[in-house]
Amino acid sequence: MVNFALSKFYKNKKILITGVTGFKGSWMALWLTMLGSKVYGIGFQPNKNKKLFYDLRLQKKINLKLFDIRNYNKLNNLIKKNKPEIIFHLAAQPLILESYKKPYETFDINIKGTLNILEITKKTSFVRSLVIVTSDKCYESNNSTKGFKEEDRLGGVDPYSASKSSMEIITRAYYKSFFEKKKNKIGISTGRAGNVIGGGDWSQNRIIPDSIKSIFNEKTVLIRNPNFNRPWQHVLEPIKGYLILAMKQFKKPDKYSGAWNFGTKSNSVTSVKKIVNLIIKFWGSGTMKTKNSKLYEQVNLQLNISKAQRILNWQPTYDIKKSVEFTVSWYKQILKYKKKSLETCLLQIKKYMHDSKIH
Ligand SMILES: NC(=O)c1ccc[n+]([C@@H]2O[C@H](COP(=O)([O-])OP(=O)(O)OC[C@H]3O[C@@H](n4cnc5c(N)ncnc54)[C@H](O)[C@@H]3O)[C@@H](O)[C@H]2O)c1
Repeated sequence: MVNFALSKFYKNKKILITGVTGFKGSWMALWLTMLGSKVYGIGFQPNKNKKLFYDLRLQKKINLKLFDIRNYNKLNNLIKKNKPEIIFHLAAQPLILESYKKPYETFDINIKGTLNILEITKKTSFVRSLVIVTSDKCYESNNSTKGFKEEDRLGGVDPYSASKSSMEIITRAYYKSFFEKKKNKIGISTGRAGNVIGGGDWSQNRIIPDSIKSIFNEKTVLIRNPNFNRPWQHVLEPIKGYLILAMKQFKKPDKYSGAWNFGTKSNSVTSVKKIVNLIIKFWGSGTMKTKNSKLYEQVNLQLNISKAQRILNWQPTYDIKKSVEFTVSWYKQILKYKKKSLETCLLQIKKYMHDSKIH
């Protein structure tokens, strides 16, 4: 494994994170403040998943503004005033189910947000590196068993997935048309990752928080789709990928701009039933009951991560077992031992950096 000097690079850098009040944004903002960056963040109301952000008191540690990413003028003013050198674009309507209920809004937020970020970046001279966060759902289903490679065909049938593949196409077009030939080059990439788990996710209908709440309240965990498979990964894994990518393309935009898969180690696709078994094991107690549903069981292909491994030297640090253990340990600290989220997240980031040979 390679050593990454993230602290040296990120110290005193001005960073903008859109979607900072969300699950990934909160972990990322905390990590960057630990590295000594000056963080600016954009969030929006309503935001169903903002508990972690406020538990970590991030509103006191970063420069936070709450407004709609679709508002070009507000976004333009914020960027021009604060002059970030690096932008991570995470703001999105990120849920497939919600995208069926609100397709227009999903396309509008995800596409217009990306367009605004790209157009404003195009007109600045201070942004040097931009990472647009999309998803493993941006690929067209195929029958390959090797996992999706970056050059595979984009697609997406539901509105969320189609909005993410649209973000990919728009980003590439902007890069090829306006940035690649610019004299003062800017590194621009997209990061494709899958379902993440980790402490601080309190959303409903998610396997880990739902199971932990049941076990903590001494109730049997009821799983409706026991054989539903996902290539789960810990939230810090793709964030590490975005951080390494933004750093490398800041220094060498030509070499590193493009699309990047930040998936799991091979053979890590795991069923919901196995995950709940692991949760029970690491929590130390609990029972589960399965109820077979007639729902279509999606076969989830993994991302092929060889490009990121080979060129960025990025690697997943934890396998699925360790990722679930790390996540359960977070909830144990908070619920059983009444520890604070901030203290627990800081310890976990330090441990993860140590295990990933990042300093
Ligand atoms: N969580 C996952 O498993 C997963 C998997 C693949 C990709 N992603 C992508 O990662 C990114 C972050 O996901 P997350 O899980 O942290 O989501 P989240 O719902 O926890 O956070 C979303 C963030 O976007 C902001 N936002 C939403 N609409 C906005 C608007 N109109 N204007 C400004 N801000 C707005 C919210 O306020 C929040 O800060 C998203 O782009 C998502 O598509 C997430």
